[in-house]
Amino acid sequence: MPRAFNENYPAEYESRLTLKNGRTVFIRPIKPTDEYLIVDLFNKLDDDSKYMRFLMPLNTLPEDLLFRSTHIDYNNNFALIALICEDEKDSIIASCRYGYDPKDNVTDFAIVVRDDWQRNGLGKSLLEKIFTIGKEHGISHFMSVIDSTNSIIKHTLRELGYTVKYSYRNGSTLVEVFV
Ligand SMILES: CC(C)(COP(=O)(O)OP(=O)(O)OC[C@H]1O[C@@H](n2cnc3c(N)ncnc32)[C@H](O)[C@@H]1OP(=O)(O)O)[C@@H](O)C(=O)NCCC(=O)NCCS
Repeated sequence: MPRAFNENYPAEYESRLTLKNGRTVFIRPIKPTDEYLIVDLFNKLDDDSKYMRFLMPLNTLPEDLLFRSTHIDYNNNFALIALICEDEKDSIIASCRYGYDPKDNVTDFAIVVRDDWQRNGLGKSLLEKIFTIGKEHGISHFMSVIDSTNSIIKHTLRELGYTVKYSYRNGSTLVEVFV
């Protein structure tokens, strides 16, 4: 009998993180029940952040993408979210993921931090955590297609100290991270 999702949930990756603004956020693996909070995060992103994350103008988050990003195996696919309590409700203020594609034998990664929470060290911490989790699951090579003008993610990856390689094609940049 297939195991229920909550049996796989890896609670050992839950943690608390104090940011540069002094606020403490709760970091945990994503759950299927987070769908509506992910939609809320998406709706609160500025257009520029949405574009840098998805590389296309999106008004709504496609259903299939929402499902795939919240229903994960916590092994080949992993995602961490950062949560705060806002207006007496939980809000996701950042999400960071990797996913292994067996067809192309590559693992892609992506991150987004809500605009009003950027520049507080969250992006750097989440990327470090997700790469470490990937490594624990046998993944040491990650890639992402980013907008060529996205100097912030380039700077963030450089600051993390991993080996990073860039290649350019059709106006986009392929970034590879070796951890
Ligand atoms: C890239 C991103 C995740 C960084 O998140 P963040 O929480 O702001 O990152 P941090 O606070 O950890 O900052 C990391 C570094 O970038 C710098 N930085 C962050 N935002 C910056 C900005 N707007 N301008 C200049 N530098 C910036 C920080 O100063 C820090 O550098 P430092 O360590 O030398 O001080 C965030 O900007 C974002 O969500 N962008 C939109 C989505 C995106 O581009 N995703 C990447 C492709 S998938």
